[in-house]
Amino acid sequence: MDKILVLDFGGQYNQLIARRVRSLSVFAEIKNYDCITSEEIKNNDYKGIIFTGGPNSVYDPSSPHYSKDILELGIPILGICYGDQLLAYMNGATITSAKHNSEYGKTTLISLGGTILKGVPEKSVCWMSHTDYIKEAPSGFKTTGYTNNCPCAVMENNEKKFYGVQFHPEVTHTEYGMTILSNFVFDVCECKADWKMDNFAKASIEKYRNELKDKKVLLALSGGLDSSVVALLLNKAIGKNLICVFVDHGLLRKDEGDYVEKVFKDTFDINLIRVNAKARFLNALKGVTDPETKRKIIGKEFIEVFTEEAKKIGNIDILSQGTIYPDVIESGRNASAVIKSHHNVGGLPKDIGFKGIVEPLRDLFKDEVRKIGIELGLPLELVYRQPFPGPGLAVRIIGEITEEKIKIAQDSDAILREEFLKAGLDKKANQYFTVVTNTHSVGVMGDARTYGYTLAIRAVTTDDFMTATWTRIPFDTLETISSRITNEVKGINRVTYDITSKPPATVEWE
Ligand code: XMP
Repeated sequence: MDKILVLDFGGQYNQLIARRVRSLSVFAEIKNYDCITSEEIKNNDYKGIIFTGGPNSVYDPSSPHYSKDILELGIPILGICYGDQLLAYMNGATITSAKHNSEYGKTTLISLGGTILKGVPEKSVCWMSHTDYIKEAPSGFKTTGYTNNCPCAVMENNEKKFYGVQFHPEVTHTEYGMTILSNFVFDVCECKADWKMDNFAKASIEKYRNELKDKKVLLALSGGLDSSVVALLLNKAIGKNLICVFVDHGLLRKDEGDYVEKVFKDTFDINLIRVNAKARFLNALKGVTDPETKRKIIGKEFIEVFTEEAKKIGNIDILSQGTIYPDVIESGRNASAVIKSHHNVGGLPKDIGFKGIVEPLRDLFKDEVRKIGIELGLPLELVYRQPFPGPGLAVRIIGEITEEKIKIAQDSDAILREEFLKAGLDKKANQYFTVVTNTHSVGVMGDARTYGYTLAIRAVTTDDFMTATWTRIPFDTLETISSRITNEVKGINRVTYDITSKPPATVEWE
């Protein structure tokens, strides 16, 4: 299979570059610039290399650079944004800074033709985001495109097969971005389009059937997309030798535990053990109000329950996890500030005593995992499920977690989901749920005074969950939701709508 290496210099859109290349049916993988040597690149048979963007200036002492050996490997290179400047700099160009004249947003690109701009009209729109720029292409290169503020927006050296674009071809705002990537991948690197998702499921079932033969494999199944797809793949490969443990911490959405059990046990006849551990989790969380402490307790308890279960089953050879490609990339990055300690079932400790780990989705992006889920017959409800945090409703219940508050969270969330579906808002909001605040307020019902909880509705629209805007919900829908919740959910006498984006807020309240 032909592969493209995306060499990561710290830009925001690097995953997008790999996804775009893969959408051309060519496999692309991302490596941090300091995690792979030029020797390793050479030995890995990459057909081409893409230098990504990055926030730095090549002259910053702290900016990421790469050994010039890479220029001697005979592998084609495409530099994007910072990667373009770095490629020019490594080839002897001077990089200029336009400190007071950054170019940002949609810009008109004038094309002078050439290899990398084949099929791009003389005038088109590209997406720029830079301060430094290349005034003059380095020796051996020629300029084949420019903008008002950027005299060398595209450069090429056909002899060495080095190309650079100052703008971002991977973002959809660049009209002919895919044409440019396709020119590089097919015309320059001569890749075959042989990365097909249809083959993936079949090939991995075959592979694990051979590799795992009589081995017993344990999987922590959460009912989320990733672990569900692994369960289906491995079930097809090794049948009852796959044992799925579903830890129900009692903090799932209404009836969700039963639904997950039914789908996997009844529809797919998967070897599934459901551990009903609600009492244990509630006990461990008793009296705890601090958000981080709650998260840590749930994470720790989860691992303990799972480990105990593994010991009970005994003789397990392999642990399987639903790790996907963005998890792999994230864990290879420098840690940024910890806002919340995340918990998900992909993060089990490696020292429970297994002989190996199997992660069938390690190379895939979420949209690719979805395609396999659909192919394997996973109910669409699970394939397109909105994200649900590992600690579950615990991060949506402020203050101490009690049975009463869990029921309020579950019942109100069920009403909200129902009304969002009816109003078609499930297509507009990427995540929506209710939050049981710890605030009580006075209300009146019939002729009597009430003193109930205030409930908050949260709905966000986002691409990547790193930033998000609050979803504009029509007033009529808000009214229906509020009226249904105050009438049908005992303990709630006031409903509010959270109109804060991320940042400054986060999506979940805790
Ligand atoms: P925040 O609240 O950090 O959430 O803005 C961003 C996205 O991450 C989800 N989330 C989690 N997912 N384990 C997960 O698997 C967790 O501990 C966790 N905490 C938050 C959240 O639902 C949103 O989609």
